[in-house]
Amino acid sequence: MEFLELNDVSKIYEAGGKFSSKKIKAVSGVSFSMKKGECLGIVGQSGSGKSTLGRMIMGLEPPSTGQLLFQGEPAYKKKMKPERRRKSQMVYQNSYEATNPKFSAYQVVEEPLRYFGLREKKDIKPRVYELLENVGIPASEAGKKVMGFSGGQLQRICIARALAAEPELLVLDEPTSSLDVSVQAQILNLLKDLKEAFDLSYLLVSHNLEVIYYLADRLIIMYKGVVVEELDDITKMPEVMHPYSVRLLNAARYMDMGKRIKNNVNTEQGCIYADNCPHFNPHCLEETPALKEVQPGHRVACFCNI
Ligand SMILES: Nc1ncnc2c1ncn2[C@@H]1O[C@H](COP(=O)(O)OP(=O)(O)OP(=O)(O)O)[C@@H](O)[C@H]1O
Ligand SMILES: [Mg+2]
Repeated sequence: MEFLELNDVSKIYEAGGKFSSKKIKAVSGVSFSMKKGECLGIVGQSGSGKSTLGRMIMGLEPPSTGQLLFQGEPAYKKKMKPERRRKSQMVYQNSYEATNPKFSAYQVVEEPLRYFGLREKKDIKPRVYELLENVGIPASEAGKKVMGFSGGQLQRICIARALAAEPELLVLDEPTSSLDVSVQAQILNLLKDLKEAFDLSYLLVSHNLEVIYYLADRLIIMYKGVVVEELDDITKMPEVMHPYSVRLLNAARYMDMGKRIKNNVNTEQGCIYADNCPHFNPHCLEETPALKEVQPGHRVACFCNI
């Protein structure tokens, strides 16, 4: 049994509510599996379906088609047992939006302990202090309200809250992108240490390839809901090959997206990146490139590389 398994998962939203037939394909035919203890990075530009994928993995919404299993069971169930809910937790990009501003740090971390009944009443207080210290927030700060903390401190508190549930999987949705660069590095280091200390598995979502390279073992690159490239081992920083991935990497390294290419073609059929690809040729519209192995553990969905 895989820890996490996606088979041809798609998610389609109705764009304009009940009275519109327009549909948005947020996630399209995604398949991959993940082992316990791995850190899988998912990268892609805004709107590529990363958060949608994260929410489906958390069981917050069902796939439209395909199969999504967490520890051998469908990730989404109409009535989700608290025990299953506990096992996967999410850390969001904007910690101010993700927390109740009336709460103190103590209350933020205490909530899941009570909800999941993980400690007896007398043990809750020392456990909250312990969790806060695990993320570098001194117990003396526990009474301070959410709004009194900096973005980086509050993200630490949100991580402590996620850990309070004693999860096996953390879905980290852009966990550092709202933070200053120096604070980002501290949070990434903290996440690295916590993963070892608590035997966690991470699904790390980011639009920044450098963040993924720092923390993740494996990488999936998405464009408009489609997986265009997969690397099973990024610890040795292999070069990406899909034209979209190359563009993403350059953007992360040089802060420069260069001139945007517009081929003015309809990508309803064929390659999803055909409209913006510098290597576009008419064959790209005739069929959809499937992910193909270009090297062991490295798959690319592009006719140029195969
Ligand atoms: N509940 C929803 N109803 C309708 N459309 C949605 C819904 N959620 C997401 N979408 C659409 O699905 C697509 C993918 O959105 P998603 O939020 O998953 O992207 P993302 O990769 O997380 O982007 P970002 O980097 O901006 O967070 C977008 O076009 C978005 O507008
Ligand atoms: Mg998102």
